[in-house]
Amino acid sequence: MQYYMAPLEGITTYIFRGAYHKFYRDCDKYFTPFLASKRLSYKETNEIKPENNEGMNLVPQILSNNIETFIEIARQIKDFGYDTVNINLGCPSGTVVSRKRGAGQLADTYALEKFLDEVFEKCPMKISVKTRVGMYDTCEWEDILAVYAKFPLEELIIHPRLREDYYKGKPRLETVKQAIAAQLPFPICYNGDITSTATFTDIIKELPTVDRVMVGRGLLRNPALVSELSGSDKKDCLEAFMSELANRYEEQYGVGQDTNCLFKLKDVWNHLGMNYPENEKLLKAIRKSDTLSEYRIAVKRFFAQRESV
Ligand SMILES: Cc1cc2nc3c(=O)[nH]c(=O)nc-3n(C[C@H](O)[C@H](O)[C@H](O)COP(=O)(O)O)c2cc1C
Repeated sequence: MQYYMAPLEGITTYIFRGAYHKFYRDCDKYFTPFLASKRLSYKETNEIKPENNEGMNLVPQILSNNIETFIEIARQIKDFGYDTVNINLGCPSGTVVSRKRGAGQLADTYALEKFLDEVFEKCPMKISVKTRVGMYDTCEWEDILAVYAKFPLEELIIHPRLREDYYKGKPRLETVKQAIAAQLPFPICYNGDITSTATFTDIIKELPTVDRVMVGRGLLRNPALVSELSGSDKKDCLEAFMSELANRYEEQYGVGQDTNCLFKLKDVWNHLGMNYPENEKLLKAIRKSDTLSEYRIAVKRFFAQRESV
């Protein structure tokens, strides 16, 4: 089985991926959160700089329905030495979908095919797709799959929810079974709601031919999840990992930028905290910290006391 880290805009930044890779190292592939500016911004460039992603198998992701923009972003990515890009055809956000990007591109399969035709003609890189299974109804999926089947994708990553589902409800596993039954000429990667060994086992029991999975929120709740799934014997390094993350954000933002750092760190704790429902008081102190030094004291207390609470 291969394990991929999902792109989570604002969370799985190069800082997060770098700290993760230092302590856990178990993902076979990483994806950048979506890149969307025709001329990559400073922030976007940092995401793909090779020196920020050393030792990792990283695939940059593009979100665009404009062929010129897409090719221009791909060109900049290629200049950094990458040979593969991933297309985001799943983002459900209102502002993205209203501009017919992300999951919004699934609504019109004619336009989708035309777009992919041009991408494959003009983009001199390997191309993978990360997709949802429709906008409103799973009956859309058959036509969407028929479009993908026409192209030599590197792989198809399926998050089996509709745009309308956002992140709610159960993943629609029957749509992944449908894709497997279609015997597509490229590998399928499953993504969605793998949060524990138990959920992983249940999902893979349903999809026995799947040989690669992508994990997002489950890795935030438990950064050791992929280590556990892949059977690698890692000692508990959560405290060291979270400390490294704080140090790296502090270094990136610079002195006196505690608010920005804390925003990023608390975002991770919002997920991590779900695995510690019995430690609400300790988590609250982390959430309420106003400075990095307050934060570090609260985190230290969390790790010292979490078992005994
Ligand atoms: C806050 C947040 C940001 C996300 N950003 C991206 C993104 O930039 N690109 C993308 O393809 N998917 C993005 N996703 C979707 C995830 O990659 C993934 O498909 C989804 O969370 C389901 O997988 P999971 O249940 O393992 O988290 C995002 C999801 C969340 C919750």
